Amino acid sequence: MTPISQLYTPINQDLLAQLKTAVGAENIFTDLAILEDYSHDETEDLRYYPEVVAKPLDTAAVSALLKLCNAHHVPVTPRGAGTGLSGGALPVFGGVLLSMEKFKAILDIDTENLQATVEPGVITEEFMDAVAEKGLLYPVDPSSKGSCFIGGNVAHGSGGPRVVKYGTIREYILNLEVVLPDGSVIWTGANTLKYASGYNLTQLMIGSEGTLGVVTKIVTKLIPKPQLSVVMLGSFPENEKACAAVSAIFRAGIIPSALEFMERRGVEWVIRFDNIRFDLKDGVNAFLMIEFDGNDMDVLLRDCEKVNAVLEQFGCTDVLLADTAQQKEELWRMRRTMAESVKSNSVYKEEDTVVPRAALPRLINGIKEIGGRYGFESVCYGHAGDGNLHINIIKAGMSDEDWKNKLKDGIKELFVLTAALGGTISGEHGIGLVQKEFMPIKYTEIHLDLMRSIKKVFDPNWILNPGKIF
Ligand code: LAC
Ligand code: ZN
Repeated sequence: MTPISQLYTPINQDLLAQLKTAVGAENIFTDLAILEDYSHDETEDLRYYPEVVAKPLDTAAVSALLKLCNAHHVPVTPRGAGTGLSGGALPVFGGVLLSMEKFKAILDIDTENLQATVEPGVITEEFMDAVAEKGLLYPVDPSSKGSCFIGGNVAHGSGGPRVVKYGTIREYILNLEVVLPDGSVIWTGANTLKYASGYNLTQLMIGSEGTLGVVTKIVTKLIPKPQLSVVMLGSFPENEKACAAVSAIFRAGIIPSALEFMERRGVEWVIRFDNIRFDLKDGVNAFLMIEFDGNDMDVLLRDCEKVNAVLEQFGCTDVLLADTAQQKEELWRMRRTMAESVKSNSVYKEEDTVVPRAALPRLINGIKEIGGRYGFESVCYGHAGDGNLHINIIKAGMSDEDWKNKLKDGIKELFVLTAALGGTISGEHGIGLVQKEFMPIKYTEIHLDLMRSIKKVFDPNWILNPGKIF
């Protein structure tokens, strides 16, 4: 079999000239400083240089670019804002880095149907703010919402804190305009709330990490925006008990709009990193951050009381109730900047695990047990209400040698545990480059072959984001 890298054609002067014709010379970049900017995303310290960066302005230009690259077997790596954590936007075989950053328009906010049409390079939070001005909510708000693009969120099937009540981005995407690798342009579905019209290509495209097509327009569902919210922060002496309280909350008939877990160390680091004012008490090792939203404060406060009673049963020692905008914002800032603060503190690796939520206590105990055997420390936090824990592995006292060679086996064990608990390799960060070696832990060859076969139907020359997922 030919190694995949040999299937691709380096971009020579002739091809470069054709790319300039396809996309506009002013939208094609080859200077080293720009290639450097697009050689990495937020995944550890990985770097892969593209040969060319393209920043097309419209669907026709994306189509012309893909048609050309497909004909010449040039790899194309689509990229949103580069906030990904699994290396999905890294151009591992060089070729063209296709940045969607010029696709910046919110094309329509349809307040009659509660839908919007938006381009993929719109920053998620800007889109949320634009619909909020019309009293509407687009609830998919990953921690990177201030910088990530909605197109990247589609590519990764993104989640975030509010999935527990509102669902992932999969619940909000109705239809997509997509350019296929041969340059043809399709709409994947219909602008309807229901879809029983054959295979659902919209859902197939979501989470496909830029391996099947390039999204150029996105039609989203919107919902009325709840007017009120409260946030509670429960403190626990033990990780395990905090995790056990999570499924008990739902069993008590309560559905929060967010239910996040944070370990003490994460809170310590974020306080230092982001100057958060927070009184971190001795003996507290874990936190549950619980949000309720709605339109009736009495109802929200009753939910808080019910949750309080559940938390007490699990050894919660202290509950803080935030109801002013400033208090709520401060707590959310603490949670949202946790990933960044952990990274700023230590050499790290970030893994994204998800299990059925009642298995969380076994997951957290297992993580610590595996870390103990391999000599790594970990800081865990994440969307506990979804059974989704982010594990930041900290190098701490591990030798360089062990970090390089032994850690891999420890990470493998984390995923073996996750799979044994009924979970999977990633809940929201995607597989990309760095998690693909773990896919066989969860999925059989039959399963992976089905995925490869789908890829071949869409992209027979394997030019779109090669080297990702499998
Ligand atoms: C978060 C990102 C890392 O939850 O997914 O903060
Ligand atoms: Zn997350």
